[in-house]
Amino acid sequence: MPVYILAIESSCDDTSAAVFADTTMLSNIVANQQVHKDFGGVVPELASRAHQQNIIPVISKALATAKIDKKLLQAVAFTRGPGLLGSLLVGTSFAKAFAMGLDIPLIEINHLQAHVLAHFIQDIGQTRDVPKFPFLCLTVSGGHTQIVLVRDYFDMEITGQTIDDAAGETFDKAAKILGLPYPGGPFVDKNAKTGKPVFTFAKPLIPGLNFSFSGLKTSFLYFLRDKLKEDQAYIEQNMDDLCASIQKSIIDILIDKLLKAAKKYNINEIAIAGGVSANSGLRDAIMNLRKSHGYNVYIPQLQYTTDNAAMIAVAAYFKFLNGDFANQSMAPYSRGGI
Ligand code: KG4
Ligand code: ZN
Repeated sequence: MPVYILAIESSCDDTSAAVFADTTMLSNIVANQQVHKDFGGVVPELASRAHQQNIIPVISKALATAKIDKKLLQAVAFTRGPGLLGSLLVGTSFAKAFAMGLDIPLIEINHLQAHVLAHFIQDIGQTRDVPKFPFLCLTVSGGHTQIVLVRDYFDMEITGQTIDDAAGETFDKAAKILGLPYPGGPFVDKNAKTGKPVFTFAKPLIPGLNFSFSGLKTSFLYFLRDKLKEDQAYIEQNMDDLCASIQKSIIDILIDKLLKAAKKYNINEIAIAGGVSANSGLRDAIMNLRKSHGYNVYIPQLQYTTDNAAMIAVAAYFKFLNGDFANQSMAPYSRGGI
């Protein structure tokens, strides 16, 4: 019989539950929170309240979709951190109570490791190629930008990371400057498809494998401030080209460091993960590395790029095999590495 695991993700503003049989996804339900739209960012207090409202319906739906009776579950997994403490507490408390009620083990998962391990998710009836150890994973989300050297499922090292804004944050801030809704990454992506990257902005000069995006954001802001002085309709008239240009600038910074890391560690297995790995320009750029450098590249399916419980479930399966269980006294953490 396979190992059935229920996993819960509640680290930010998505309430998600998934049911897995070993590494195969049986269900992956995500409830997005709409309450933050008017605020231009996630409001932590509203996020935790919305998690409380969503968690029971989301878990019921995950079990119903998977057609698995809860008595068949062998473990309950939850995101322990990093993330918003109030949000994490909802998933953590629910997981603890559920595991205790069913008298089955509890498994705690690091959200950033889970983004990387999303590459090992299989869908029913399909076999996807998975990365071979050691591989490099560029994890790019709203809160993180890092190049991870993955030696084994839970042997990961951050070789480079942002010293200021994350890539997703840069997309969202640029989108805000352009008057696009939050989170702006997907809107920039959509507009960029019909634009040309004709504008260039300041490039960071950061040694090693670390990233910096705050200079790019400022350069974009000042460029537009000057243009708007001359022409109030400048953004409207150049929206698609502006989106294509800022997107290309972000991608160039990411690819440049990723290539450096591949060279430094002599690794040709390359993966991307996190919300920004949904970006069509970044996906194309990574695919091109196969042609230009002969790398084996791994791009997650779109549903596993932004926050989801499927990635928590697959990570939990590997911990289950190791007998690596959590106890009822484990508290969530807001900050921390991989
Ligand atoms: O991984 P994720 O769902 O949450 C965090 O852990 O942060 O990532 C969310 C981020 C947001 O900044 C969002 O704008 C960005 O991922 N994002 C995108 C795209 N889809 C989501 N950025 C660029 N292009 C996209 N298509
Ligand atoms: Zn995430």
